[in-house]
Amino acid sequence: MNYHVMTLFPDMITNAMSESITGRALKAGYLALEAVNIRDFADNKHNRVDDYPYGGGAGMVMQAEPVYRCYEDIMTRIREQGGSAAAKVIYLTPQGKVFDQQMAKEYAKEEDLIFLCGHYEGIDERALENIVTDYVSIGDYVLTGGELPAMVVIDTVSRLVPGVLNNEESAETESFSDGLLEYPQYTRPADYNGKAVPEVLLSGHHANIEKWRHEKSLERTRKFRPDLYEAYIKEHPEESR
Ligand code: ADE
Repeated sequence: MNYHVMTLFPDMITNAMSESITGRALKAGYLALEAVNIRDFADNKHNRVDDYPYGGGAGMVMQAEPVYRCYEDIMTRIREQGGSAAAKVIYLTPQGKVFDQQMAKEYAKEEDLIFLCGHYEGIDERALENIVTDYVSIGDYVLTGGELPAMVVIDTVSRLVPGVLNNEESAETESFSDGLLEYPQYTRPADYNGKAVPEVLLSGHHANIEKWRHEKSLERTRKFRPDLYEAYIKEHPEESR
């Protein structure tokens, strides 16, 4: 998977992604990442990429031309490397479709993903019309820019790319993909300040452990995410209680 991020803050992206599991996967070559500075494509000596909004109003708007030139630069490299001329361009915006695990699964099938991170009051609509294929939000709240949302999408997609997680880590993915929340986990000591680990987990009886975990998942999902619980019960009516 090759990620290309168009941003005014490339260090924010490369620093965060070089840590932990994504960092390991980048080093091992399962992922590649370039963060391209939109400012490098400014056409004036002050490297300005924003201007006042037509019609007035608060804030500044990112200009179309530097964004478009940055995109062209990335596309030239993708073409040179034999990638698809139809690479998806994901614009992070609170006005987009709310990101979920299903979208992550679809994105994980792509060879190249291009992210466009906005700042100020937004980006000139004409640049968006020209290049953006997907408008994506990470939830109903407003951040200062698209970098954190892009990293949320990149992180979520990355753990679905073959090779990124090791076997032990990937077993952990199954639980949410069945539509239920994760069951509670415990490790040593068996007694922590008078709180004991549930007996069944010490029993070594695998079928009972599985049953207990599934019940806890159902219980939690019903309590914290009734919307997910309803959807799950529709698919598995025999588990209704
Ligand atoms: N930019 C600002 N807020 C955002 C959000 N919630 N999702 C995606 N991009 C954003």
